[in-house]
Amino acid sequence: MRTQIGIIGAGPAGLLLSHLLHLRGIDSVVLESRTREQIESTIRAGVLEQGTMDLLTEAGVGARMKAEGALHHGFELAFEGKRRRIDLTGLTGHSITVYAQHEVIKDLVAARIAAGGALRFGVSETSLHDIETDSPSIRYRHEGEACELQCDFVIGCDGSQGVSRASIPQALRKDFERVYPFGWFGILCEGPPSSEELIYARHERGFALISTRSRNVQRMYFQCDPKDSVDHWSDDRIWAELHARVDSHDGQKLVDGKIFQKNIVGMRSFVSATMQHGRLFLAGDAAHIVPPTGAKGMNLAVADVRVLTRALKAFYVENRTDLLDSYSETALKRIWRAEHFSYWMTSMMHRIEGASPFEQQLQVAELEYVTTSRAAATVMAENYVGVAAV
Ligand code: DHB
Repeated sequence: MRTQIGIIGAGPAGLLLSHLLHLRGIDSVVLESRTREQIESTIRAGVLEQGTMDLLTEAGVGARMKAEGALHHGFELAFEGKRRRIDLTGLTGHSITVYAQHEVIKDLVAARIAAGGALRFGVSETSLHDIETDSPSIRYRHEGEACELQCDFVIGCDGSQGVSRASIPQALRKDFERVYPFGWFGILCEGPPSSEELIYARHERGFALISTRSRNVQRMYFQCDPKDSVDHWSDDRIWAELHARVDSHDGQKLVDGKIFQKNIVGMRSFVSATMQHGRLFLAGDAAHIVPPTGAKGMNLAVADVRVLTRALKAFYVENRTDLLDSYSETALKRIWRAEHFSYWMTSMMHRIEGASPFEQQLQVAELEYVTTSRAAATVMAENYVGVAAV
């Protein structure tokens, strides 16, 4: 089989790229190792930057996001018994939407299928060939058959464990990594929101985050040992921990509810530079990972796709290769900004094992500054909404 763009991975990056290319008259095939049910039910973060909302809307998949997502104009930082608001809209003129990543996936899959897009689920043994030539190919197994997809370009959107990044010779690539000694315990529970806006709380027992999904479903997280197991955490123990970390602030009391989903995620910062080699280009988690604080992961994937779509269109419509040549350099500017922001927010909000009393006071001093200086609050806000200079 032949197509113009072979895309590995049906996450937000792969699906959105495929759909935007389709709208520009460029053909693609998306190969995914998991099933449709699996990709549509994997629970991830839920904060969409303005630029992400704009691109989803432009792609024609923004209707449900607008109807069911919640527009937030600020969030709260809680520390030392205080709660202070970061006025996103007042400081930047922009806001964010809380809408779960797997809902974005459902909208994109539906749009690809409605447009007759080629989407293969459950593929295995995927390998890349001839990426240094003008006619690369992807070999894979699908429904028991060995298949080959010939294409003009291969786009690796297959996450940090996928085959794509490993196809760029290590000698041409530099990996930058930081592993954090803590993780996040995430829950979904039934009940009304405990707060109108998201609360990021720094507490001596560890970080906690109060987020939402709808009027009846809430999303909450608390810092934990990444090697811990959800089986060690009864509902009562989870609520006791969340109450201890969040309730002390300004008489705020969380509303408990039935917990129906629990998961633990580790935390890592990672960047692969370069993000391209020959006719292979990486997008999203295949090239970079951020710790979840600030929810930049999907927004970065969408930003990569924006750059890549423009570059591929310039190639096919204007016969230009300059935007493809500079893809990695262009994308990495925004990625490093978000890497710094995610690292910064993580470092300021989490309990760091072994931190001295001096270092702990520095965290508090930074939170005081960010929540009282308009200049410092603007730094936080413009990074959070995603309109910082790059
Ligand atoms: C959510 C996740 C985040 O990492 C974050 O910073 C804010 C919200 C969420 O899942 O709702």
